[in-house]
Amino acid sequence: MKRPFRIAVTGAAGSISNSLLFRLAAGEVFGPDQPLILQLIERPEAMEALRGMAMELEDCAFPLLHNVRLHDNIQDGFSNVHFAFLVGAKPRGPGMERADLLSANAEIFSAQGRALNDYANPDVKVLVVGNPANTNALIASRNAPDLSPSQFTAMSRLDHNRAKGMIANRFGCNASDIRKVAIWGNHSATQYPDLHHATAMGEPVWPELDPKWVDEEYIPRVQKRGAEIIAARGQSSAASAAQGAIDHMRDWYFGTPDDDFVSMCVVSDGSYGVTKGIVFSFPVRCRYGRHEIVQGLPIDEAARKRIETTEKELIDEKAGVEHLLPAETEAAH
Ligand code: NAD
Ligand code: LMR
Repeated sequence: MKRPFRIAVTGAAGSISNSLLFRLAAGEVFGPDQPLILQLIERPEAMEALRGMAMELEDCAFPLLHNVRLHDNIQDGFSNVHFAFLVGAKPRGPGMERADLLSANAEIFSAQGRALNDYANPDVKVLVVGNPANTNALIASRNAPDLSPSQFTAMSRLDHNRAKGMIANRFGCNASDIRKVAIWGNHSATQYPDLHHATAMGEPVWPELDPKWVDEEYIPRVQKRGAEIIAARGQSSAASAAQGAIDHMRDWYFGTPDDDFVSMCVVSDGSYGVTKGIVFSFPVRCRYGRHEIVQGLPIDEAARKRIETTEKELIDEKAGVEHLLPAETEAAH
């Protein structure tokens, strides 16, 4: 029998967690033979709702679920965890941009970065879902000087899946027939969903597409899908966000196929000329529990401009939280 992984989930009584926790416990992320201990973290005022969630988890009698611990503080909640899903944060409402959440949510992530640094397993892998996810991940990473920046990622997998789903629809095929879509940049309306490298059933999609449709319909639709869902549902995406989180962590842990890549927001190493140190979505491949930015993709002039636009937004977001970013230390690399 394998030793259990300890998994922290913040915002564990919220909407995304309501899908995520049950699928984690069913083995959808770490496999059907990997036992888990869930360390669920909530604000003190949401602990009663969290107790309800724990009762439901118990009532599923999941064979892989060794224990469920409930925490109203991150020091205990992050203790010895191998993986952390940082979901807990305020969601946006109708008419808001995700960056409007920066002041409400940024402080949460500096404290969480410090607590992960001090209490988590030194190899912890962190996925930030709470918005604005890229800059929150940057804050968490910079407040964890003993951990490598590569241990901190943010979620653009929902955008990646949206981009795949919409192009599959266009080609009348299944989403699994679509390979090599890429999301560049911020999880925001400036993100760049790139189809230049994509294939449908093994054939390049680009020559089949009308550039006007790509520019005026496809790209804006992917960029604004979160807002479209909020307008329709009255609240932000939850089940699809949980799916994105599951896909992201599973692929990071188990690896990606050689003939495809996925999108993950990772700390930029300067690849493709993107400013070093910001948390930026790139096409990546994962192997042996590590993510690597896919190198050498051709980028034309129009794509370059779009990448620069989303890069600028992230640089501006970073400038707005400079007070939460301690100087980088040698140990962090
Ligand atoms: P929700 O309001 O339903 O749940 C959030 C939960 O987080 C609440 O239970 C709240 O009590 C808890 N929480 C807030 N601050 C906390 C803290 N400091 N520590 C622990 N728990 C805390 O929201 P949701 O729909 O689950 O969304 C959560 C976040 O995920 C939002 O910021 C949302 O915008 C974001 N989101 C990101 C993506 C993405 O693709 N990156 C997709 C969907 C949603
Ligand atoms: C999404 O993309 O659905 C989430 O980030 C929620 C939002 O605010 O759009």
